[in-house]
Amino acid sequence: MAPTQVREQVDRTADVDLTTTYMGLTLPSPVVASAGPLSQSVASMQALEEAGVGAVVMYSLFEEQVRHEQEQGVRVLEANTNSFAEALSYFPTESGGSNGEIAQYLDLLTKGADALSIPLIASLNGAHTGGWTKMAQRLQDAGATGIELNTYFLPGDFSLTGSEVEQRHLEILQSVKDVVDIPVALKLSPYFSNFGEFAIRLDAAGADALVLFNRFLQPDIDINRQEVVSGFELSHPEEGRLPRTWIAALRDNVSTSLAATSGVDGYVDVVKAILSGADVVMTTSALVRRGAGYATDLLSGLRRYLARGELSLDQARGLLAVPKTASLAEYERSGYVSALEKAKRRYGV
Ligand SMILES: Cc1cc2nc3c(=O)[nH]c(=O)nc-3n(C[C@H](O)[C@H](O)[C@H](O)COP(=O)(O)O)c2cc1C
Repeated sequence: MAPTQVREQVDRTADVDLTTTYMGLTLPSPVVASAGPLSQSVASMQALEEAGVGAVVMYSLFEEQVRHEQEQGVRVLEANTNSFAEALSYFPTESGGSNGEIAQYLDLLTKGADALSIPLIASLNGAHTGGWTKMAQRLQDAGATGIELNTYFLPGDFSLTGSEVEQRHLEILQSVKDVVDIPVALKLSPYFSNFGEFAIRLDAAGADALVLFNRFLQPDIDINRQEVVSGFELSHPEEGRLPRTWIAALRDNVSTSLAATSGVDGYVDVVKAILSGADVVMTTSALVRRGAGYATDLLSGLRRYLARGELSLDQARGLLAVPKTASLAEYERSGYVSALEKAKRRYGV
């Protein structure tokens, strides 16, 4: 290839516009650093921004931490009931235990939001309705551009029906939306009996984005020690298949933003999620494995792919989504049947 042609190709790649709209926010790129350890300092958030991520989601503040702080507050108020009136306005010191962690989180959020020019999304993680969700307002006041609500909930109460579990998610979403003006995303598990119908209801209830999917801790068993091992592992690329399947199915059926999370290892996984219809593609494990700078590789791979195919990001997004007119059940079922037929031929004796 002549040198001028090479130069032209490089220029086209550099020109690819990756500007993305996600939960109503404008992002410089569709690769987002999902909640995880790389948001624990302003310096590492800045490294993520320099590497080109479109937004950073901070690690989670947990319902249990918030409740602990609130319970301490009530105890202090009760202890001061007979004191001077001004004592009633006393709020417990935020210097230790959960209070310290909350103060630290809010402080980091404020400093991060000041230091970054990309959106900084705070993460609130809980599974019950109640006053703890008011913490969302403090996150907004501290500078969060948006809130990701992670409803990590494995129903341990076997008398709870599926619709009660769904109702709880809707109530948590509503109670957070009630106290903030910034957009609210919901990070969900895939374990609902009809996820598509539920996703459509969350969209109608005002979820600004659905983040698909949470990875559940699935303990293993050590047969020699006869112990349950609760190891937490980084993800593998095949875990991206389930989120992509649902994103492709939902793309033309919801107006809320869709974020793919789980299993992004290389730029190919980013491209696959975009083709499925993801507005943004989130990554934690890959950045933990290879460092914040790896986001640059993911983005240059995406740029190369788009330039090679002469596609804009918007043209690529949802190119392989399930058409709205298709019957998803039949679509999935025919894919399933033909995949099984192929597998029988391949592995049959
Ligand atoms: C070390 C580590 C810490 C994480 N911490 C959080 C967290 O605080 N809140 C949360 O919602 N998700 C958390 N996650 C989950 C990630 O945000 C992400 O959804 C999940 O790891 C799947 O994406 P990945 O395959 O790119 O890792 C964490 C993941 C890892 C690996």
